Amino acid sequence: MIQIAILGFGTVGKGVAKVTEKNAAQIEKRIGEPLQVKTILVRHFQDGPYRQLMTDDFSRIEEDDDISVVVETIGGVDAAYTYTKRALAAGKHVVTANKQLICEHGYELLQLAKRRRVHYLFEASVGGGIPILHPLTQCIAGNRIEEVYGILNGTSNYILTQMVQNGASFADALKQAQQLGYAEADPTADVDGIDAGRKICILGDLAFGRQIREEDVPMTGIRGISLEDVKIARRAGYRIKLLGRALRLAENQRTAYVAPHLIHEDSPMAHVEDVYNAIMVRGNAIGDVMFYGRGAGEMPTASAVVADVMECLLTSPRKDDVTWNADSSGFCDPQEVVSRFYFRIDGSLSDALYAFGQVEVLSENGQTVFLTDAISEKKARERAEQLSVCTCLRVLS
Ligand code: HSE
Repeated sequence: MIQIAILGFGTVGKGVAKVTEKNAAQIEKRIGEPLQVKTILVRHFQDGPYRQLMTDDFSRIEEDDDISVVVETIGGVDAAYTYTKRALAAGKHVVTANKQLICEHGYELLQLAKRRRVHYLFEASVGGGIPILHPLTQCIAGNRIEEVYGILNGTSNYILTQMVQNGASFADALKQAQQLGYAEADPTADVDGIDAGRKICILGDLAFGRQIREEDVPMTGIRGISLEDVKIARRAGYRIKLLGRALRLAENQRTAYVAPHLIHEDSPMAHVEDVYNAIMVRGNAIGDVMFYGRGAGEMPTASAVVADVMECLLTSPRKDDVTWNADSSGFCDPQEVVSRFYFRIDGSLSDALYAFGQVEVLSENGQTVFLTDAISEKKARERAEQLSVCTCLRVLS
């Protein structure tokens, strides 16, 4: 019998207990022994079938030699950070979906795990149930990764889909996302691009092997997206989606940001709806490869966590599972990244032409809506300084 502990018993913690039970036979077949949740750390005891397993004393887990894997689903940094360090120091493998903790302390925790010769795995921290971190660091590890981008927040994508396709209000769509267990405890992290920002930091850390600091990454969420822009973009053959993007630039420099983009409908990324996420990785050998699936929710996220638990039990930690250097130098301002831009201005076409030289007009109906040629964001903003800009969005190229 292999016994594990779960820290925190919210959406993901409950999902882990359910998947462990539901797929018990299959898991046992794979790891050779039954897998059982022995202890659950909670702040407030909850009634139900797991009541007998609950404790509010972490030392009962830390000192229990029968517990070999600790699943941290508390979220946030404070308690999660302390307990993760204590569990690793006690020689237990730790598995988590906690992107904030990985983003802020991933390097340090990986080093600690390495010293203790245990695993610290976090597949579920990006893309919910989608396998992305293992493919990135193993299956396509032979590539030089040039770019990673994707729809990384299930809640925002769900809200956008409900607003655009079903005419739901922002508030109602957010409430539904919360009821479905997609949103963070504080959903501003979802709608303001912070959750996607943490995920693109993790992807960039692993793709480029160097720390990307959350505070260096500009993050814009979905609050500013207007349905008017969605309709104009759609008529021109584009969808508007929130993307996190990390790019390798010249001379080992790199950048990352989160912002809404226009994506041409020819791209599969344009058709990713509801809670689904998609992540595109561009490698110098494989070319473009896309990963798609449910990016949030109890069971999909638990699927990734349980797979990591099984990996802890089936493999010994290698010396350098991931290449992640704490050095954060070489991070550039994403305003230097060149693309086309979508503008909606209170002004005429001649105003637009005066500022940009030439443009592709999408609409002239009181306001002027146009696409620029490829230009850096810095230059686009400089040229638009004289204009009365209602919307400025990047076009994914
Ligand atoms: N709140 C996150 C999302 C959960 O909506 O994508 C998965 O990380």
